[in-house]
Parts: sequence; structure tokens; C-alpha cells
Amino acid sequence: MSHLVAPSLLAADFRRLDRAIELVNTSEADWFHLDVMDGRFVPNISFGQFIVEQIAAEASKYVDVHLMIEDPVRYVESFARAGATGITVHAEACTHLHRVIQVIRESGAKAGVALNPHTPVNVLDHVIEDLDLVLIMTVNPGFGGQKFIYHSLEKVRQTAELIAVRNSRAIIEVDGGIGLQNAQKVLEAGARVLVAGSAVFGADDPAAVIRDLKAIAPN
Ligand code: DX5
Ligand code: ZN
Repeated sequence: MSHLVAPSLLAADFRRLDRAIELVNTSEADWFHLDVMDGRFVPNISFGQFIVEQIAAEASKYVDVHLMIEDPVRYVESFARAGATGITVHAEACTHLHRVIQVIRESGAKAGVALNPHTPVNVLDHVIEDLDLVLIMTVNPGFGGQKFIYHSLEKVRQTAELIAVRNSRAIIEVDGGIGLQNAQKVLEAGARVLVAGSAVFGADDPAAVIRDLKAIAPN
């Protein structure tokens, strides 16, 4: 199965959000990636349900909501209602991760768990069968435009192995510092979804970058 490209709107020009949404809708991109930050789990604050709802109303593609917030179970239902197709929570932000995953599934959204760069893959050992997606952070979350952490390739491989051994349906998403220079490597390590913020929206021709990311063929 070929890979998916998920532009992160965090890097878009929010004064002209309509243009960014239209660009993703009409491009070869597969998903919208929406980064929700609360100023506690990560230092930065981005946007919440209200903006997600506005974007989801215009989006003609899968809406991938990445919650970088403390105790996200409090908001799962409201993000599902706002139009999230998939909801990803951070393992580090959930005391009762197993329960949170069930709450996401009950909301009707696809369930994802994200891991910070320092978090070992084995925290997923007892939940992997319940997941639709594992998000491997390839930078420390909080900001766009950071440098890809090379060691995360090894984590992608470990996650792919866990998924295979346990026969899970989960797919692997990578997020942070992804662009044409490293996309092939992460795909070869086992990633299926490429999130790209600044590589796409920082380019003169975002649709062309999306096309080039889609065209990469892992060896
Ligand atoms: C980082 C966010 C990312 C970010 C990616 O905390 O989760 O989705 O927008 O941006 P780039 O591609 O610029 O690293
Ligand atoms: Zn993200």
C-alpha cells in the first residue's frame, strides 16, 4: 500500500486559512494534520475545537487531529464532534491510556497514540491491538520547523516490528522535520503517513512539494 501525505496546517498562513484548506483539498495530499497545543503539555498554544470545526467543515479529506494536551480524555468527545476523523493522544499525557483509547473509539474516531522522542515503544505493548495509528514524534512536540531527530528511525523500525508481531492494523505516522530530504528513509523504516508542515507551507509551491512527497518510492 502506498504512503499518505498529511500537511500540517500549523505552518500555514492563518490569515488566509481558506486558501490553505483549498490547497490541501485540491492537492495530492491525503489528510489534514491539525496540531492542538495547550501551553501545558507543550510550551506552545495553537488552537482548539472551534478552529478544528471550521477547518473540518471545509475539508474534503481525512481530518487527523494531534492532541498535544494534558489529560486529553476530557476533550475527546468534543474533538470528535468538531469533525475529527482520527484523534491521536500522547501516551505521556494519559495516566489511563488504555481507557482513553476506548473513549476515542467510542466517539467514532480512529484511535492514535503519539510517542515523544524519549518514550520507548514498549509503552504500546498492551494497547497496540486497539490502535489504528501510532505517531512517532521525530522532533520534540510544540513547534513547527524543527530539525528531524535521526534516532527516531530506529523507533519507527521497532514500532513496525511490534505491529507485525502482534498483527495490529495500526499504521505508523511520523511528525516533525519531515521533508523531501528524509521522507524516503522514514518510509523505508516502516512509516506510512508523512506529516509535513514547514516543508509544505514554507515552499513557494506547496502543491508541488506534496506531489513530490507522494512520488517518493521506498526501495
Ligand atoms: C510539532 C507538530 C507538527 C509540526 C510539524 O509539535 O506536531 O505536526 O507542525 O511541523 P514541521 O513539519 O515543520 O516539523
Ligand atoms: Zn503534529
